Amino acid sequence: MNGLDLRGPFDIAHVFDISKNAFIPIDLLPKQLIDGRIIVGKNLRCFIRYKKRENRGGYGSIHRIQRTPSLGKELCVKSPHSPTYSLCPEAILQWYASDILRRAGILGAIPHIYDIFQYAGETRFTMDFINGRSALQYVTEAADPDYIWLQILAQVSLLLGYLEETIYLDHRDLKADNIWIRETPVDYSLSVGGIVWKLKAPFQVVLLDFGFACLGNDEGHSIISLSDGIVPKIDPCPKEGRDLFQLIASVWSIPIIRERASRTIQNEMESLLTFKNTSYVHIIKQAHTTHWIYLAVSDARFRHPPLHPISLLLKLSADWPSVGLYK
Ligand SMILES: Nc1ncnc2c1ncn2[C@@H]1O[C@H](COP(=O)(O)OP(=O)(O)O)[C@@H](O)[C@H]1O
Ligand SMILES: [Mg+2]
Repeated sequence: MNGLDLRGPFDIAHVFDISKNAFIPIDLLPKQLIDGRIIVGKNLRCFIRYKKRENRGGYGSIHRIQRTPSLGKELCVKSPHSPTYSLCPEAILQWYASDILRRAGILGAIPHIYDIFQYAGETRFTMDFINGRSALQYVTEAADPDYIWLQILAQVSLLLGYLEETIYLDHRDLKADNIWIRETPVDYSLSVGGIVWKLKAPFQVVLLDFGFACLGNDEGHSIISLSDGIVPKIDPCPKEGRDLFQLIASVWSIPIIRERASRTIQNEMESLLTFKNTSYVHIIKQAHTTHWIYLAVSDARFRHPPLHPISLLLKLSADWPSVGLYK
């Protein structure tokens, strides 16, 4: 992997090698002052005004902001709940993944990062604000939940398949509240597994929250692992089928989603959640929480070939032509 020159987006005057690490010491980052100015040395980079808090996750909060100069888009800031937790590596991985997709002609599927900066000893970053709904809400409220769910799976498989193949990225926290849907039509063409895939949909799937992501190498070892002690230190990256397994297992744990799906889709999901002698269907229906999913996928031996992105793309395109995914 080549060194990345991050001078443009972050005003950091050194060439950064993402094949080694994704951390920039806080003192080298642009600095936000109390009045909202972000400065780099003595130069003014931009000015931000915080508006309302939109949302909160386990690790960070999302505030809408107004940035001057304006970039002509709606933006937000993610700030950590605890200053000991730097959002710099997360922001760099998200920026890298979004830039890789941009170079392949895919815009908007990962919020782009504009500024990584320090404020009062914390690391924060600005990104595109996604006006939309969570994947759960979208599927639950859909008039045609089968189509919406399969279409979400098709878009996620395409994006993940491409990122896994080009930069060995695993998201590692792909549950439904980290997937956002907005009503922007998409018309994608992307090569994954030696096949050029075409996909059309009336809405766009957006992947959020790269706080647990890893980047691996072509031997399947992780070289950058953001996990904060949650995921084992030595964790294969990419791990076959992990991300889609997490997504399907977490969504299928919700009774209302299962109940609204047709019998055919229920059977299809149950077959995707089974590999050789291991079926996760029973635990999905019985468990009261979804903590077991993290435990299952963090096992060093975990692999789930039916949910490798390419396997799912092949299956969806062959068995579900109504999804609109073509080779
Ligand atoms: N770019 C964004 N645009 C709109 N909403 C967002 C964006 N990023 C995150 N959110 C919302 O904020 C929540 C928390 O953000 P997230 O990055 O997942 O934080 P955490 O690392 O704490 O889980 C998300 O689940 C989502 O609802
Ligand atoms: Mg989250």
